Amino acid sequence: MRATESLELVGVGLANVAWVTTRTGIELLRFGRSSWWWRLRWALLRTWVGQTPIGVVRREGPASGLSEEDLVYGETLPGTAFDLLEALEVEPRDIVVDLGCGRGVFPLVAGLAFQARAVGLEVLEGFVTRGRRAARLLGLEGVDFQQGDFRKAPLPQGTVYFLAGTCLEPSSWAAVTRNLADATPPKARAASLSQSLPSAEWEDLGCREMAFSWGKATVFLHRRRPSPRRARSASQAHARSKGSTDPSA
Ligand SMILES: C[S@@+](CC[C@H](N)C(=O)[O-])C[C@H]1O[C@@H](n2cnc3c(N)ncnc32)[C@H](O)[C@@H]1O
Repeated sequence: MRATESLELVGVGLANVAWVTTRTGIELLRFGRSSWWWRLRWALLRTWVGQTPIGVVRREGPASGLSEEDLVYGETLPGTAFDLLEALEVEPRDIVVDLGCGRGVFPLVAGLAFQARAVGLEVLEGFVTRGRRAARLLGLEGVDFQQGDFRKAPLPQGTVYFLAGTCLEPSSWAAVTRNLADATPPKARAASLSQSLPSAEWEDLGCREMAFSWGKATVFLHRRRPSPRRARSASQAHARSKGSTDPSA
């Protein structure tokens, strides 16, 4: 690597440290009185002492068979996870699923701050074992971490989904969105990062700019439309109950 490239990398690294430190300061002002925020930071510190997410990706990524694009690591900041879960109107009866959960900030905040059940699905084992350890430390019995590939069906059952698919390869994006459409019940909510989910299956609830570990990104909010098959059988049942002679019914 040339000296200029190394210098550029150091510059990017320093800029990122400055960004994350600033955002942590902003979160401290917002959530400094909330115990969930401190407990989450403590659990992440304990489970990740001496380790980094990039280290897990470097060690385990090559054997996973996934492309470099699919394994680009970035994280949802705790305050952003909180704002997103609030925007998705998460309640204790919800089951929140993070597809590709990394360190599990999103499911852990769902359990800690919203008392929801949650599942973090992740392909790399190092994230799954540490996620489980963090949930155990926090006493979150309803938060689970599962090792699996979101390109392969079936996905965990949930009522609220999060997909941080910013860097995903087009074929991985196509596979996970197809699986998501198959897994979700009508009215399920979903947030997807940087790309909107297919409009045939998902109603658009708007988008917003939010802060992530690498900078700002657009999050698209959605509600699941009834699938055409389900909608058709519902309207047929309705027509039958009214004695309709409509041939399409
Ligand atoms: C950009 S990170 C996002 C982490 C987390 N969702 C967050 O927002 O904090 C994407 C994560 O998805 C995982 N991943 C990538 N491809 C996957 C796949 N096919 N199945 C399951 N996890 C995958 C990566 O290992 C990585 O931890």
